[in-house]
Amino acid sequence: MRSELLQMLIDRQGEFVSGEAISQYLGCSRTAVWKHIEELRKAGYKLEAAPRKGYRIVHQPNLLTENEIKAGLKTNYMGKNVIYETSVTSTQEIAHRLAREGVPEGTLVVAEEQLGGKGRLGRAWHSPIGTGIWMSLILKPKIPPQQAPQLTLLAAVAVIRGITETTELQCEIKWPNDILLNGKKVVGILTEMQADPDQIHSVIIGIGINVNQTSFPKEIQEIATSLKLEKGQEINRAHLMRSIMAEFEKLYELFLSDGFYPIKQMWEAHAVTIGRRIIARTINGAIEGFAKGITEDGILLLEDSHGRTHKIYSADIDF
Ligand code: BTN
Repeated sequence: MRSELLQMLIDRQGEFVSGEAISQYLGCSRTAVWKHIEELRKAGYKLEAAPRKGYRIVHQPNLLTENEIKAGLKTNYMGKNVIYETSVTSTQEIAHRLAREGVPEGTLVVAEEQLGGKGRLGRAWHSPIGTGIWMSLILKPKIPPQQAPQLTLLAAVAVIRGITETTELQCEIKWPNDILLNGKKVVGILTEMQADPDQIHSVIIGIGINVNQTSFPKEIQEIATSLKLEKGQEINRAHLMRSIMAEFEKLYELFLSDGFYPIKQMWEAHAVTIGRRIIARTINGAIEGFAKGITEDGILLLEDSHGRTHKIYSADIDF
């Protein structure tokens, strides 16, 4: 109800809305309206109250709270159940626990800050407070476990579309899951699974987006960037999150009804890895060759100088 109130005030763009109109719209008492207003104030919203005029919104904090995300969210289930935390070790950890406890599909865990953010291949993921989107989305697809990597590719397409819709920036994908802007990494995706050998219980899609950072630690400043740095202006994180949730739900429904093929085509349209010479650094060593494409399972096909095709399941790619 609080997010509906928030949306109503946001829609009026700073105009007053009477307490009577709000209580009728929400179907609650004037006292309940006042309590919701107080809660929004505690969360950092500046709301003006004037006798006989009602309430109006004067300032919205750039937060990623449940209210902010849900105000204007146009999905049926993606991001409808939001678990918002200020500071956590990793949203993946929380999502794993919630998935085991049986939360609904589409549950979104989001934090302002991660103190132990996890990247791929056991790396750390830098997640400073209030600047990025650090989120984990819980899915429960009825697909065999070996198809789960396809959801990583689906996530990359959903995030790219959400970014373009919100910022007009055009990102590229580096296989399997790095999203780049002007050659630098702006998004990382980490897919984890709870499964038996023949059945998936949950897939946890962890997405880290560098949104409003203006600087990075020395170790990554050459390879990382943010949407703000590339666009030259602050980005509203909640708006971006809503766009991503909407794109995600559309693509996920398409995937469940028509399979991976349409997603694969969209993914390939954004991929910089395919059709060029690359070096794939795997745990068994580096292989140099021509990236021919990806399989139906999202595996990279690399042809070496002897004409032999290697299936690459996991690697870092250099050009
Ligand atoms: C990568 O190495 O590129 C993947 C990075 C994934 C980071 C995200 S941030 C939200 C979620 N929680 C984590 O601890 N990691 C993922």
